[in-house]
Amino acid sequence: MSDRPPTFAVGLLGSSFMGRAHSRALYMLRTLEDDPVALPDLHTICGRDQARLQAMQRRYGWRHRSTDWHALVEDPSIQLFVNAATNALHAEPSIAAAKQGKHVICEKPLARNAVEAQAMLDAAAQAGVVHMCAFNYRFFPAIRLARQLIEEGEIGEIRHFRSRFLLASAADPHTPETAWRLREETAGSGVVGDLLAHHIDLARYLVGEPVAVDAYARTWAPERHGVQVDVEDAVVCTVEFQGGAIGTMEATRVTPGHVLDSVIEVDGSLASLSFDVQHVNELKLSTAAKASTINVTDPRHPFVDLWWPRCHGIGWGDSFAHELRHFLGAVAGRWRVAPHGATFEDGCRCAQICDAVLAAAASGARQRIPVGASAGEREVDVS
Ligand SMILES: NC(=O)c1ccc[n+]([C@@H]2O[C@H](COP(=O)([O-])OP(=O)(O)OC[C@H]3O[C@@H](n4cnc5c(N)ncnc54)[C@H](O)[C@@H]3O)[C@@H](O)[C@H]2O)c1
Repeated sequence: MSDRPPTFAVGLLGSSFMGRAHSRALYMLRTLEDDPVALPDLHTICGRDQARLQAMQRRYGWRHRSTDWHALVEDPSIQLFVNAATNALHAEPSIAAAKQGKHVICEKPLARNAVEAQAMLDAAAQAGVVHMCAFNYRFFPAIRLARQLIEEGEIGEIRHFRSRFLLASAADPHTPETAWRLREETAGSGVVGDLLAHHIDLARYLVGEPVAVDAYARTWAPERHGVQVDVEDAVVCTVEFQGGAIGTMEATRVTPGHVLDSVIEVDGSLASLSFDVQHVNELKLSTAAKASTINVTDPRHPFVDLWWPRCHGIGWGDSFAHELRHFLGAVAGRWRVAPHGATFEDGCRCAQICDAVLAAAASGARQRIPVGASAGEREVDVS
């Protein structure tokens, strides 16, 4: 590796929750390693609120701020575009950035629906830029270890996938919820794109392609602070995977007894795996004879060598540092986004499955999801 790592100028759209998660991760990447694969230059942060942008500049060292995303994606000095804005602002700015030759990482869900997601994939593939969908769960060491164990045959033939993503955020209709999350026009869907998408992506990453779904959806709180809610706030679905495995998935934001409960389980013919986001440093591995909790904090475990001595653990926000490091490395030509990062192709596939879940819930009929080929990831020289 050269003495000086390549440095890429980053433009970030979004300065609230995810804007903070990505800013903190980019800021940390500047000091994480002795020999980094590439470094981010925190060039411009864009949002709607000047005071908030100024605070983010002070906090993370963004050199410039803007309230105009068009100017951001057109700025020729910016090489990487990180899209952490609301779902309605995923497609247009990401497509514009790709057309300007910028490499793009965009928050999940990739878009409000599969049609928009496909347009994003087509634009990125046509522009030949590196593209990634920010499914950060793939970047927890325990999830990466789960994939490794599955690939090594530790749990045998996969039979079941089970997941639940339960939030209390909308349980009380008097508590405020960000308005954009409540309307199809601005969010695309409710908990399907917001929460279920994370687990759909993990199901694909760990088990394989869903080929059919059945679903039920509910809107328990149809009005919130004067906003007419036209998206679902709870969903339950069953899934059939290519290869025969079956699964159940549940997502809601109206369970007062579950503030944030995000668990996935994979059952094989030899053993079962379980991951709970409240215990990000652990992976449970159980057989008929023994149940063990793997403390995924050994430097030989994925990503752990970036951090602390054995057993010191990482936090939820650190998955974003792994994710953005992966993106920077792909842009620098050190590796490809796939298979461990989600590309726009993965984001697009996830959007197709989300649409199928919504269609199944609306129609009461099982939806088949064709597994087709689509435009791929940019070839990079990894020599
Ligand atoms: N990976 C995860 O774990 C995770 C968690 C939460 C949210 N998300 C995703 O991240 C995205 C953002 O979610 P959030 O919770 O940060 O939302 P948020 O409402 O907290 O923030 C949205 C941001 O978009 C900016 N924005 C909106 N319209 C704009 C405009 N016209 N011009 C400039 N800026 C504009 C706002 O200023 C704000 O900074 C969503 O797509 C969401 O699904 C991902």
